[in-house]
Amino acid sequence: MEIINKIENKTAGIGIIGLGYVGLPLGLEFAERGFKVTGFDIDERKIPILNSGKTYIKHISADRIKKSVKNKLFDATSDFSRLPEVDAVIICVPTPLNEHREPDMSFIENSGKIVAQHIRKGQLVVLESSTYPGTTEEILLPMFEESFKNSKTSGPLVGKDFYLAFSPEREDPNNPNFTTGTIPKVVGGVTPNCLKAAVALYNQVIVKTVPVSSTRAAEATKLLENIYRSINIALVNELKMVFDRMNIDPWEVIDAASTKPFGFHPFYPGPGLGGHCIPIDPFYLTWKAREFEVHTRFIELAGEINTYMPYFVVEKTIEALNTRKKSLKDSKILILGASYKKDIDDMRESPSLRLIELLRERGAKVDYNDPYVKKLPKTRKYNYNMRSVSLTDKNLDKYDLVLLSTDHTYYMEKAKFITQHSRVIVDTRNLFTKAGVKNKKIFKA
Ligand SMILES: NC(=O)c1ccc[n+]([C@@H]2O[C@H](COP(=O)([O-])OP(=O)(O)OC[C@H]3O[C@@H](n4cnc5c(N)ncnc54)[C@H](O)[C@@H]3O)[C@@H](O)[C@H]2O)c1
Repeated sequence: MEIINKIENKTAGIGIIGLGYVGLPLGLEFAERGFKVTGFDIDERKIPILNSGKTYIKHISADRIKKSVKNKLFDATSDFSRLPEVDAVIICVPTPLNEHREPDMSFIENSGKIVAQHIRKGQLVVLESSTYPGTTEEILLPMFEESFKNSKTSGPLVGKDFYLAFSPEREDPNNPNFTTGTIPKVVGGVTPNCLKAAVALYNQVIVKTVPVSSTRAAEATKLLENIYRSINIALVNELKMVFDRMNIDPWEVIDAASTKPFGFHPFYPGPGLGGHCIPIDPFYLTWKAREFEVHTRFIELAGEINTYMPYFVVEKTIEALNTRKKSLKDSKILILGASYKKDIDDMRESPSLRLIELLRERGAKVDYNDPYVKKLPKTRKYNYNMRSVSLTDKNLDKYDLVLLSTDHTYYMEKAKFITQHSRVIVDTRNLFTKAGVKNKKIFKA
């Protein structure tokens, strides 16, 4: 197969559609192994930033981008008519939920349509976006087959004229132990040739590829991974609420249970689910399962518990304020941490945003601090015009309560200082205990 020869001798051009948290590091990985990479994105603000060797994502260094741009191995464009220049197209566009909590397939559909307009013989297309089983074959395949029909090619098309595969993304932003290239990658092809081509592609940049029998199996693998996390997090969140009533510290119990060398994997409670994956992906399966008359009860239950967590934090905040004879109404609250996960600047589905909403609804005046998020960006649901308040002793003293929502290392380092200058603290991450700070004014939530 010509595509495999081109991949193996590194003459294959690689196109990445969607230069976000997933697409950008993947594109750089290929560029750093000597492939010529063209990045496509509809967001025209990102194109000049990337082409001038700068970054817009904190944990992806400008140096990496600069080097690849300088070596003429990476360039970004919003001109999709350049798609035929590349041999392999990897689609990494968002898959959010719509306002009815159902899959929003518009990004995949739109990028599919644009690929279909430009697809040429011999190209490999791989979808990486997390999605329900069946997406690749039910949405993308018919679009591409149609394009080839228009060009009057006859005979079976996929696996011969073009190749189509699904390979789920497993990025864990800012994880120092794993990066794009060192996380094994599951790959499923529409036909055996499609699988061969996709495996050859990822073998160039990924430590290990794991072929599976179909695109559906690959799509389902990603959902299993995220559902597993969502359900286990819901379990510890529920146990946190039970243990709290019993005056047992859930983090102490989890740490103790983690000493069991087999059969236990620790998950940690928090103020609610965040990020673009765990709160969202499970519902892609729920939606698809309805077509098969199956109800995904575990997923729904986990969603219910995880969605309740910000309310639990609000209850704990009220209790903590009570100890100071303060009501939540009119109290001033400083939330520490805006991003959904420690040490990153990603705000998607962050529980801090929900906490701000719930606290404000109850009459509190809320500010936030986050060393990585200077201004709260507009999200699909929230549009707060808020800027990070600096973490000084004077500022801390202005607030009736400090609520720790994200366990940035920065807060760990400042735990003593924060405790010293705050009136009362609610800690949703067990950060102060981990930092070795004990004080009666710290309430765990
Ligand atoms: N971020 C992660 O850590 C992670 C991990 C696992 C899986 N995923 C999955 O990977 C997919 C992409 O996620 P992400 O975090 O990179 O999203 P992102 O929002 O960071 O990036 C997506 C990019 O796609 C662009 N885009 C949207 N529509 C486009 C189109 N039609 N053509 C070209 N570009 C388009 C956007 O402008 C944006 O730059 C999602 O399905 C997500 O669930 C993400």
